[in-house]
Amino acid sequence: MTAAIPKVELHCHVEGAARPALVRRVAARHGIDLTGLFDEKGDYVWHDFTSFLGAYDRASSVFRTPEDFRDLTFDHFTAIAAEGAIYGEVFISADHAYASGLTYADYVEGLAAGIRDAEAESGIVGRLVATGVRHLGPDRVLAAAITAAEQPHPLVTGFGVAGDERMHHQSDFSEAFRIAGEAGLGLTAHAGELCGPESVTAALDNLPISRIGHGVRAIEDPALVERIAAEGIVLELCPGSNVALGLYPDIASHPFRRLMEAGVAVTVSSDDPPYFGSSIGAEYDWLQRDQAFTDAELLAIGRTALAAAFVDEATRSRLEQRLNNAANGGSES
Ligand code: ADE
Ligand code: ZN
Repeated sequence: MTAAIPKVELHCHVEGAARPALVRRVAARHGIDLTGLFDEKGDYVWHDFTSFLGAYDRASSVFRTPEDFRDLTFDHFTAIAAEGAIYGEVFISADHAYASGLTYADYVEGLAAGIRDAEAESGIVGRLVATGVRHLGPDRVLAAAITAAEQPHPLVTGFGVAGDERMHHQSDFSEAFRIAGEAGLGLTAHAGELCGPESVTAALDNLPISRIGHGVRAIEDPALVERIAAEGIVLELCPGSNVALGLYPDIASHPFRRLMEAGVAVTVSSDDPPYFGSSIGAEYDWLQRDQAFTDAELLAIGRTALAAAFVDEATRSRLEQRLNNAANGGSES
């Protein structure tokens, strides 16, 4: 059990973190019918990446006011704090807010209020990473970057691209990443999840990123693994998500440890926890149970994640202290 290990999560989509009970509560607020969204056990219904995105968009559409989004981040960050997380980043997507009739400013302020309330209650620190949704097209991704750059918010510290990797080429997003980078945002791109190592290579060749969302399929190209290690690119690995989407049959077969042993900077995250039956605590537990990660190794993974976090240096040092305290056997706070 890894309950006592302080955890750092870099890769989680805020709309994908919406737990069914919260979606039900918010839908009831607005009188929204959810027929067909959940199965008889109360879990989201989906069977492949495309139907996952459909369920995800439908569940996201119940969040309509800043207060709804405040409840979403509050629920998520207090939940991961209860599992030992001391820091978390979530991907946000203005396009989901626009679909609900909200402005970017109201969306971000709602999300930020939930983060502040969760920190006051549990001590967890949170940040937001604006994303463009690639299957909506390069123009929408560019618009997401321009919006994040032109409307800075102290808790929006990064920019990325998510969505269906099978659509468009990483080079279609170069301008968006240039603008976001010039605005001082940390940069990460989903690659090597639904597509193979060529998509990771394209991301590295075309986008000025320090992290890759997933990147796991780089394992299929040993020269690429060497390049990722040599360039110090950090992988936001999400083993539970990869198993749920059928990339690997089980956690034991996931290349997490092989990538680490090849010298790659690896981190662990839950991606879309209620959809994939995961959580940050479960991901740490699975690595320990199925890949024999020791407590010290898991703490080191948290250190790698904190070093790669899109957060100011003063906050990073404060959080590092909590990891150090845990490593020295003390209470982590
Ligand atoms: N958006 C939400 N979850 C995602 C995933 N696993 N891959 C790409 N885009 C996503
Ligand atoms: Zn993701």
